Amino acid sequence: MSHVLDNGRNASPWGTYRRLLSYAAPYRWLLVAAAIGALLEAAAGGGFLLLMKPITDETFIARNRDVALWLPLAIVGLFVLRGVAGYMTDISMGRAARSIARDFRVQVMDKYLHLPGARFDTEPVASMLVRLGSDSDQVAQAAVDAMKVMVQQSLQIVASLAVMLWYSWTVTVTILLVAPPLAWVMDRVAKRYRRISHRIQESNAQLMLAADQALSSQQDVKIYGAQASEMARYRGLADNNLRLAMKVESTRGISSAAVQLLGAVGLAVLLLIAGHEALQGRLSAGEFVSLMTSMMAIIPALKQLTNVQNMLQRGVASAQRLFSVLDSPDESNSGTLRVERARGLIEFRQVTARYPGQGSPALADVTFTATPGTVTAIIGRSGSGKSSLIKLIPRFYDPESGQILLDGHPLQDYVLADLRRQIAMVGQQVTLFDGTIADNVAYGEMSQASAEQVDQAVASANASEFVEQLPLGLQAEVGARGGRLSGGQRQRLAIARAMLKDAPILILDEATAALDNESERLVQDALQRLMPDRTTLVIAHRLSTIEHADQVLVMDHGRIVERGTHAELLALGGLYAHLHAMQFREKHSA
Ligand SMILES: Nc1ncnc2c1ncn2[C@@H]1O[C@H](COP(=O)(O)OP(=O)(O)OP(=O)(O)O)[C@@H](O)[C@H]1O
Ligand SMILES: [Mg+2]
Repeated sequence: MSHVLDNGRNASPWGTYRRLLSYAAPYRWLLVAAAIGALLEAAAGGGFLLLMKPITDETFIARNRDVALWLPLAIVGLFVLRGVAGYMTDISMGRAARSIARDFRVQVMDKYLHLPGARFDTEPVASMLVRLGSDSDQVAQAAVDAMKVMVQQSLQIVASLAVMLWYSWTVTVTILLVAPPLAWVMDRVAKRYRRISHRIQESNAQLMLAADQALSSQQDVKIYGAQASEMARYRGLADNNLRLAMKVESTRGISSAAVQLLGAVGLAVLLLIAGHEALQGRLSAGEFVSLMTSMMAIIPALKQLTNVQNMLQRGVASAQRLFSVLDSPDESNSGTLRVERARGLIEFRQVTARYPGQGSPALADVTFTATPGTVTAIIGRSGSGKSSLIKLIPRFYDPESGQILLDGHPLQDYVLADLRRQIAMVGQQVTLFDGTIADNVAYGEMSQASAEQVDQAVASANASEFVEQLPLGLQAEVGARGGRLSGGQRQRLAIARAMLKDAPILILDEATAALDNESERLVQDALQRLMPDRTTLVIAHRLSTIEHADQVLVMDHGRIVERGTHAELLALGGLYAHLHAMQFREKHSA
């Protein structure tokens, strides 16, 4: 037997399933209750099949008055029992399945938040959303719903078989000989299904990714008239998805047709043998009706069992994807050095860094020191590696070679959370979270900050003026990703958040780029007040920021090509002087 799913993955489907079952362990009492329910259900079903004989023989053939009342009552009674038991099974299984899906979601989400930054460059967020969404659900189905069908339907089959054996073992044995071809067809069908259902899930993820990209940049799509090309791409993927879906459908259709056909063949054989037995006087009309009804009860149960395999396969495929997420290594956090408040001395020693899969390094041989109480400005053309440099300090990425030290200790010696507590950072792309302005400023570990502290931070970031104009002030909602605020307003809130953090290292990546000159000056003043007792790294294009820096690092193609103060660099007449001259010209021609 070949395991298509094994390709490129280390766990066997069975190993994956066993691991999956361990997620069901906490809910074993629910599963026990469900099993009891399923047993009662099967017993009631078997009872009904047994009754078919007296119903036929006593009521219709012997015309026995005694059974006229109790048989109908018995039928109703059996079905009440069956209904109650079935409800018990459904509810406890459902509860267990949804709980397992919840457990998976929470674990995988937690994992995602601890994955290294590089992972997010290789796995798009949309596919992470699929892991948290449909994959988690399908896993729960495999772990529980499949089990439910298996238990329920197998018990149903056992009960039916018992009734059959009770009435005529000859006929039953004949049927058991017909069953193996049925099983063979089931197996063939399942294998084909497994292959296709795997591909359709990949296709679903691609479809979502394409939609996500087009929709989340809808303004660009519209302004560049890219609707047609986006639609062509999406339509192509949707067509492919349809083709795969049809394959799945036809496989499903063929499977049920084949199973039913074999059922009919079984019925014919049964009739052949039963006729012979009746002629010999070994089978009454009632017993034959019972046998027939039992067999009819087995067919749908078998059909459901073939579906179980599909369910299992889909679930196992999802589980393998989820486990591969859960098993991937966290951000490396092996440091043990604790630090309450660092001094903020940062040293880069011949640091080279490369994004995964990139040919040339984003940073090459970068060496510099930033001392507490000073401002280091980093400038350079777009793509020269400025943002890449500062992203190494909170260890979003780790360098390929060289060392970065904080207060004389390598960064990786520190407990990650302690290291990051030392850093306030306003990134190039400000991200706000759905919530109020106050929530966004007093974010994460700062959620205990007092209202006065928040107020003060908002004021220093020159944000009070617009916050006060909002009807709800600090309690105003910023919308998803801060969508209800302007770019400059978002930036000021990010600065307020950094100010509230009051960390020894302050990193600003184009933090004031979206502000007008006047608000930038106000924010600069506030930052200036913050700077004296901390280490500041600032990436800026504007001269006003750079002129006051204690040292300027000029970057080009990932290297520091010039360094010094503004005046020294101007005197040098190199790249800095060139960039400066360009900006000077712009300013005066504008
Ligand atoms: N996540 C990433 N994955 C792969 N390559 C990246 C990634 N981020 C940046 N790069 C590459 O690394 C190089 C340096 O990028 P970086 O963002 O550091 O530039 P920058 O100096 O900040 O530019 P800008 O002024 O435009 O912000 C670029 O060539 C860029 O293509
Ligand atoms: Mg940048």
